[in-house]
Amino acid sequence: MNDPIGIFDSGIGGTSIWKEIHKLLPYEDTVYLADSKNAPYGGRPHAEILELSIKNTEFLLNRGCKLIVVACNTATTNAIDQLRKQYKVPFIGIEPAIKPAALQSRSKTVGVLATKGTLTSQLFHSTAKNHANGITVIEREGAGLVSLIEKGKINTEETKELLGKFLAPMLEKDIDYLVLGCTHYPYLIPVLKRMLPPHVKILDSGEAVARQTLHVLKQNNLMHSHPRASSHLFYSNSDTAILKDFLSDVTANYTVEQHNF
Ligand code: DGL
Repeated sequence: MNDPIGIFDSGIGGTSIWKEIHKLLPYEDTVYLADSKNAPYGGRPHAEILELSIKNTEFLLNRGCKLIVVACNTATTNAIDQLRKQYKVPFIGIEPAIKPAALQSRSKTVGVLATKGTLTSQLFHSTAKNHANGITVIEREGAGLVSLIEKGKINTEETKELLGKFLAPMLEKDIDYLVLGCTHYPYLIPVLKRMLPPHVKILDSGEAVARQTLHVLKQNNLMHSHPRASSHLFYSNSDTAILKDFLSDVTANYTVEQHNF
């Protein structure tokens, strides 16, 4: 099937997922939507996150997308059930990787850094309840991090100070896994690695989402069957300079467009 895969996020964070998907599915075309004008989603009420997710989905469906990846934990945990009910295309979502962290933790204590919208969602609660049996989960809202990352402020004192505040109570309780529950946060991994003791492992869900996308494409006979050069369109409804910056390591054929939606 020659139609593109649609991917959306509240902003540039989902490009971390886009990169995993492109690595695994290099022949697939994609359309990426960064709703940076409305970022961060994390502090918004459930109804607003749902409304924005529906708007983003319609934008991608109007561009002929055959499958939609909700590359945002906040949108997934608040909206994916409704999106699946409302539209016919398959949806892939992303949730904090609590299950693998809980299975592998030796200290039986894991940290989860995510947005308020994710941590307060019903989906997150049921996942945590089902998979973290006998494990202590230390949750922290990464308030302020998405806005800093959207401004490209990764390796700054401001960001490090915030991270230090969020990590302190986790390290006090001896976590050995830190779960990144927001698709913006993988861009903080180099900074986090310098801040965390070497035995603390960082987990994000990017690769798992790419594998699931491959699986669902195959299952629905939607995969491109022949090797080909793929093309990629990135839309942002805000300044595109930061988005371009986050794509500077991408060698595939892509264009970035500013679009007011
Ligand atoms: N990338 C989004 C996520 O995974 C960020 C949410 C936000 O905009 O606050 O949760």
